Amino acid sequence: MSTIVAPSLLAADFLNLERDIEMLNRSEADWIHLDIMDGVFVPNISFGFPVINLLKKVTQKPLDAHLMIVQPEKFIDEIAATGATYMNVHLEACMHLHRVVQEIRKKGMKPAVTLNPHTPVSLLEDILPDLEMVLLMSVNPGFGGQQFIDNSVRKVVQLKEMILKQQTSTLIEVDGGVNLETGRRLVNAGADVLVAGSFVFSSENPEEAIRMLRAL
Ligand code: DX5
Ligand code: ZN
Repeated sequence: MSTIVAPSLLAADFLNLERDIEMLNRSEADWIHLDIMDGVFVPNISFGFPVINLLKKVTQKPLDAHLMIVQPEKFIDEIAATGATYMNVHLEACMHLHRVVQEIRKKGMKPAVTLNPHTPVSLLEDILPDLEMVLLMSVNPGFGGQQFIDNSVRKVVQLKEMILKQQTSTLIEVDGGVNLETGRRLVNAGADVLVAGSFVFSSENPEEAIRMLRAL
């Protein structure tokens, strides 16, 4: 089975978003990863619903929404209305994570929980059976183009062990600093889904870059 690849639109050319989405449509990209920031949970602001609601009109690819915002539960309805397949919320942003996860599922989306680089995988032990996916951040969220944090590979191994032990079918997704070298190490460690922004969009041939990531 090939690795699932979710290019991050954060690295796309925002003045030519339609062109870049059409490139992704032609490509073998499995999903489109959307980085939604509020300037509070992370020190940056990206894009919001006016943009997402337009871009969903030009793609059939499943949308993977990554909410880097405080109180993400406030926006479950709006994210569901975009037609997103996955809704990723940060564990660090949810006081009542179990409730949020159930709400996401109730609205017809697949719940996923995201961990910052400092957050141990062991905190997921009791919520794992309720999740479709865990997103491990391999950079501090907020910006594209940062350097991969090496310890992330070890976290993938730990999470894979937990998944095997609990016999769940949870996917492991990794986001930040992914390229062919870090991607290969992550896949070897047990990652199922790779998010890649800069590596894809700054490559001379983004479609080929996506193909190479899928082949890892
Ligand atoms: C970081 C975002 C990532 C980012 C990855 O806050 O969650 O999705 O776009 O960008 P690269 O692949 O450039 O590290
Ligand atoms: Zn992301």
